[in-house]
Amino acid sequence: MTSQKILVIGAGELGFQVLRALVAHPRRPATIAVLMRPGSIDSSSPSKQKQKAALQQLGIDLVPGDIVEDHERTLASIFANYDTVVGCTGFVSGTGVQLKITRAALVAEIPRFIPWQFGVDYDAIGRGSPQDLFDEQLDVRDLLRSQAQTHWAIVSTGMFTSFLFEPSFGVVDLENARVNALGSLENQVTITTAQDIGLITAEIVLGDEDLFNCRPIFIGGDTISYGELAQLIERLTGNPITRNVLTMEKMQDALASDPQNGLLKYQAVFGQGHGVAWELAGTWNQQRGIQAETAEEWARKNWAGSLNPGSFGRAHRLFYAQDPFSRPMAVHINHAQFPGDVQAIRALFLGYAASLGIDLTFQSFEEELDSIPGKYATTEGGALLIARNSDPLNSHDDAPSNVIKLGLPDFNATPPVTIGCVALRRSSDGWCEMKRLYVLPEARGLQLGDKLVEAIIDQAKSLGYRGIRLDTLPDMLAARRLYLKYGFVETTPYYDTPLKGTIFLACDFTREL
Ligand SMILES: NC(=O)c1ccc[n+]([C@@H]2O[C@H](COP(=O)([O-])OP(=O)(O)OC[C@H]3O[C@@H](n4cnc5c(N)ncnc54)[C@H](OP(=O)(O)O)[C@@H]3O)[C@@H](O)[C@H]2O)c1
Repeated sequence: MTSQKILVIGAGELGFQVLRALVAHPRRPATIAVLMRPGSIDSSSPSKQKQKAALQQLGIDLVPGDIVEDHERTLASIFANYDTVVGCTGFVSGTGVQLKITRAALVAEIPRFIPWQFGVDYDAIGRGSPQDLFDEQLDVRDLLRSQAQTHWAIVSTGMFTSFLFEPSFGVVDLENARVNALGSLENQVTITTAQDIGLITAEIVLGDEDLFNCRPIFIGGDTISYGELAQLIERLTGNPITRNVLTMEKMQDALASDPQNGLLKYQAVFGQGHGVAWELAGTWNQQRGIQAETAEEWARKNWAGSLNPGSFGRAHRLFYAQDPFSRPMAVHINHAQFPGDVQAIRALFLGYAASLGIDLTFQSFEEELDSIPGKYATTEGGALLIARNSDPLNSHDDAPSNVIKLGLPDFNATPPVTIGCVALRRSSDGWCEMKRLYVLPEARGLQLGDKLVEAIIDQAKSLGYRGIRLDTLPDMLAARRLYLKYGFVETTPYYDTPLKGTIFLACDFTREL
């Protein structure tokens, strides 16, 4: 079922990402609304005004409502206008609110409901854990399981990735070069970023599969032990990291002397080490080949800024590209398949050569075209990635007219349209070479070039290369900016070229951070 009217409760860190992903989804429904406190909608504070403007620009209806102050009946009468309600407010105002929202959803007889349970596996943790708020999540599950009218899904995400790195959570203490392991260094935690939770939740709500079959869906970007986290930080920062274990005993003592401390309660739950981590291979996203951001990717992005290459997941990566003034599209980047993709790759390579406006004879370009995949074959230690606009787009009658003007060739066509590519081939001394990075002119402005570079860097790493080299020309400013962003620096020529002014760049993985 494709839901036609969706209400998201809350537009905070998580709610906003869910809303953005719903709006950008190729099956964007006619109505997407957000329930917000009237005071927040009417607030004159610049940050609230900015939030309101951003939501309105996305075409989201703002619905006044207060999950704490409003009576269950009032909430039910709001919910009754929607097919799907997604709770994204977290534990606001302590106990009782999550149950109230759930009762309101059931009274309203909404067809589909996702309660705010984007976190740990509450069933596995059970009642009576150090975090007393969690018991209410089990009450919510009991209530949902006691009925059959409203179909529900729970998206178990593990900890928000940003929270694991949040200094106030007390695990990653960069200032003192220390990791405080909760329970033990072997204890694991599953993490997912708010952005990925948004994308995956939108896919769960709007995708093909009927996932509202009344059970939790496990997703994840990474499952990492505190010991591995310490190693990762050591590798990224180049500094030794002290491993400090907060044993359950220590945490229980701390809680005994400060029983209302919410942070200590969370730490203790994670310290128990059950219900907080699951195998990534079994997650809903991984089983569909959708990679979410790992701890390392998060750290590179947030700590290293533009100096270091970020990697955007392995071969198969789904993202929604959207320009506010164009319509959204879903893009898949994966390995080109042969012989099926030969013609598509040939067309992209020809487009690439035409865009350069130079004679590529010296690179044996004709031969390359005739032997695709050639040196880029996986059997040769290469990789050839192709980006496809994979889903036909909805054009809603009520969509603003500026939402259907991207003008990609055959944009509504199925099967998918190929819109970009990038390749790598084995070079010498453990290096590989990036080649044929190309995005159709009509698909530019959507950060597809970034995603292709991220994907090929990831490939190069997974193939065990020490780094990537490439050549470019002085007037290719946009490409040079892109390479700079991903950590490429100028290097000595690694082959003889007749093209005057050729710039040679290298991204050495062994020198990262
Ligand atoms: N699993 C994890 O590891 C993890 C990590 C971090 C956070 N969390 C939890 O996730 C929750 C959601 O995360 P978040 O980062 O999105 O939180 P957030 O940024 O604090 O957003 C909370 C949202 O709820 C809204 N809200 C608050 N009180 C409300 C009320 N009475 N009626 C209607 N809306 C109300 C807020 O709106 P206003 O703008 O009006 O305040 C805001 O939009 C957090 O509260 C936290 O409990 C979990």
